[in-house]
Amino acid sequence: MSTTHDRTMTRGASAPSPRSPSAPPRAVPTLAVQAEVAHDTAVPRLPTVVVSSWKGGVWKTCLSASLAERLSFAGLDVLYLVTDDQLDARRRLGISESDPDVARVQRGSGTVTVVGLAGAHAVDVLYRGGPGRFGRFDAIVVDTPPVKKGGCLPGVLLLAPTDGDDASANLIRMLRATPANTDIVLVRIDAVPKREWAQDAAVIHDASNHTGTLSYLSDPLPRTAEVREALNRGQSVWTLARRGPTREFLQGLESLAGVAWERIRPGTTLPALAVAAASTVHIRGWDDDA
Ligand SMILES: Nc1ncnc2c1ncn2[C@@H]1O[C@H](COP(=O)(O)OP(=O)(O)O)[C@@H](O)[C@H]1O
Ligand SMILES: [Mg+2]
Repeated sequence: MSTTHDRTMTRGASAPSPRSPSAPPRAVPTLAVQAEVAHDTAVPRLPTVVVSSWKGGVWKTCLSASLAERLSFAGLDVLYLVTDDQLDARRRLGISESDPDVARVQRGSGTVTVVGLAGAHAVDVLYRGGPGRFGRFDAIVVDTPPVKKGGCLPGVLLLAPTDGDDASANLIRMLRATPANTDIVLVRIDAVPKREWAQDAAVIHDASNHTGTLSYLSDPLPRTAEVREALNRGQSVWTLARRGPTREFLQGLESLAGVAWERIRPGTTLPALAVAAASTVHIRGWDDDA
């Protein structure tokens, strides 16, 4: 007499196996999962100005720190996000190494808070979580290291300084990678004739294929010993006597701050800067020769 169990065993042994060991393994089909898409149209959480180039030494840190200060003098609380060597940027603002990692300086009625973050951490602050854990801000200014492609950040105001040498390949490569919703302002550092720069800017514009807004600061920014020395000792360029090439340099910065302001407080004008202490007394015919 056989049990149910025996019958099963018997039948199993005599029936042809549906999966003999020699049969090929069954392939599990791939199920689709949406790939992460690059958001070329993303918009930063706060109005953001990025100073970027593929070349070092084109005054990025100088321009970004001075711009952050200028916006602070206009009453804003500015997050100065440094994705490059933070020490350099901190020194420019007179912050010492012993000061806290997240350091804040007062300029006029506003503040500049310096935070060093790179890569995805910077993107988190700009586009995802926002800068909340560092405080409340009206705007963000970003300083980038060379070749860090700040130009690929969408939805920002991109200030692209150039000294003319890189006007060909690298600058154009950066501008080509710049999303259409980023507005670009080309800045020529180191004085050249204005007309020559206007022609260069037109060539760069054509080569960049940028479909968004591209403008250029019409007056090249001059190199001056006063500015260099002020930066070296961590003194704000806005305290310098406003005369000669230093005044021209500051006028260029003022114009850039005006473009930034238009994005931060649309429809209003950048509040005028108070007269710097160093230029409160100006004696015509004497100071002009200094
Ligand atoms: N208007 C200026 N006149 C003279 N020197 C300047 C001026 N602006 C910046 N510099 C100097 O140029 C050098 C490079 O500037 P920096 O801002 O560090 O460039 P980057 O951040 O692009 O490498 C610094 O030594 C700085 O003091
Ligand atoms: Mg720098």
